[in-house]
Amino acid sequence: MTAEAPHVRPHDGKLLILTPGMGAVATTFIAGVEAIRRGTAKPIGSLTQMQTIRIGKRSSNRTPLVKDLVGLAPLGDLVFGGWDIFDDNVYEAAVRARVLNDRDLAPHRKFLESIRPMPAAFDRNYVKRLDGPNRKLAPNKLDLAESLREDIRNSIAATGAARATMVWCGSTEIHLHPSDCHRDPRAFVTGMKENDPAISPSQLYAYAAIMEGVPYANGAPNLSADIPALEQLADERGVPIAGKDFKTGQTMMKTVLAPAFKARMLGVAGWFSTNILGNRDGEVLDDPDAFRAKEVTKSSVLDTILEPSSYPDLYKDLYHKVRINYYPPRGDQKEGWDNIDIFGWLDYPMQIKLDFQCRDSILAAPIVLDLALFLDLAARAGRGGIQEWLSFYFKSPQIQVGHLPEHDLFIQHIRLKNTLRFFAGEAPVTHLSEDLED
Ligand SMILES: NC(=O)c1ccc[n+]([C@@H]2O[C@H](COP(=O)([O-])OP(=O)(O)OC[C@H]3O[C@@H](n4cnc5c(N)ncnc54)[C@H](O)[C@@H]3O)[C@@H](O)[C@H]2O)c1
Repeated sequence: MTAEAPHVRPHDGKLLILTPGMGAVATTFIAGVEAIRRGTAKPIGSLTQMQTIRIGKRSSNRTPLVKDLVGLAPLGDLVFGGWDIFDDNVYEAAVRARVLNDRDLAPHRKFLESIRPMPAAFDRNYVKRLDGPNRKLAPNKLDLAESLREDIRNSIAATGAARATMVWCGSTEIHLHPSDCHRDPRAFVTGMKENDPAISPSQLYAYAAIMEGVPYANGAPNLSADIPALEQLADERGVPIAGKDFKTGQTMMKTVLAPAFKARMLGVAGWFSTNILGNRDGEVLDDPDAFRAKEVTKSSVLDTILEPSSYPDLYKDLYHKVRINYYPPRGDQKEGWDNIDIFGWLDYPMQIKLDFQCRDSILAAPIVLDLALFLDLAARAGRGGIQEWLSFYFKSPQIQVGHLPEHDLFIQHIRLKNTLRFFAGEAPVTHLSEDLED
């Protein structure tokens, strides 16, 4: 890395974290942060809170916590807000989501009840399986976006925050393709005025955030800030953006195992992945249009990691299938099965079976926290536009035109940490042997 380390404005005051969508993931995130800062839980799963980072040679024994090296906003300075089509407060929504036990919610009930969702910019055409009363009415999409901007300003004022970040924790919207109104900011504004159907509610939140100088990350697989109009706007206004689709369960495992097969030059003939889940997210994904958005982000990882064009003997005939099944009895406790058909020396076949009995929102909540804090760091470092170094957190990393996505979790991790070293004015760790380092 040759670029000069940026000047990072130090954190001060409060940081407001806004979540469009206050369902299972968002409420688990907020309740968890409150439990951690009250000392009744540990921030397990959060790199920003628990991980250390090596500076210099191994022998120099400098391994500060990430949060100390780069000066992240402390949990005590976080305040929360958001939008949802249901007007349940965060306590009620968390009870309804059935992720956390009453034992973990009851002690924080008063705090959680104090956070109420603002009326949402929502349109059933984009999330067909849901409807709710807490929504904005406006003649066109630009008016909706302006109303969201006003909400952002009012929330900052009401909470006394110095800055804000936004992480989309709303339902998966239907699969959309980039279209003409997405080509640049001017076309996008015209599209909003004319109620262009290619503009979804999540794009209105992303637009509102960028216009208010609030960094935006998309935790769902749908098209949101990953369109030329919003990427250009984010660049012009110096606002960090990142996406998309939190990398939590099955795909995280895929991006751990596939690099191992490639590193050992083992072939993969087939990879069949199926899931059962019964939460509201699963219900939304039961609609084929919403499922299509998820299928696209889940499917692309293997090709990029295994590079069949460079290794045709090993991966050119790989059959990859992803299934998501809505199964209400399971609630948030998803189960994902993978059957992997691999082959080795002299083509001899082998099988691997993986059964991941995970908890979706327990895996996603620390990602919301890390993204919010890292986006705030990027903003204070003056780094606007797409934050590729945050690919670590996403199934389908948002990248600049002309770049290739990186899906390998370990390469993503190295890149994330070297970017943090860069922000702190420290040299990257190259993993050359100590003998070869200066
Ligand atoms: N949990 C995971 O492991 C994981 C992983 C990757 C992605 N995701 C994505 O994260 C998102 C949230 O997941 P969840 O389990 O919390 O789902 P959820 O259904 O519990 O919560 C989503 C909430 O968003 C609200 N919503 C929908 N459209 C909205 C709009 N336009 N404005 C405001 N609110 C809106 C819904 O009413 C709902 O309360 C989903 O899109 C999911 O696909 C989750």
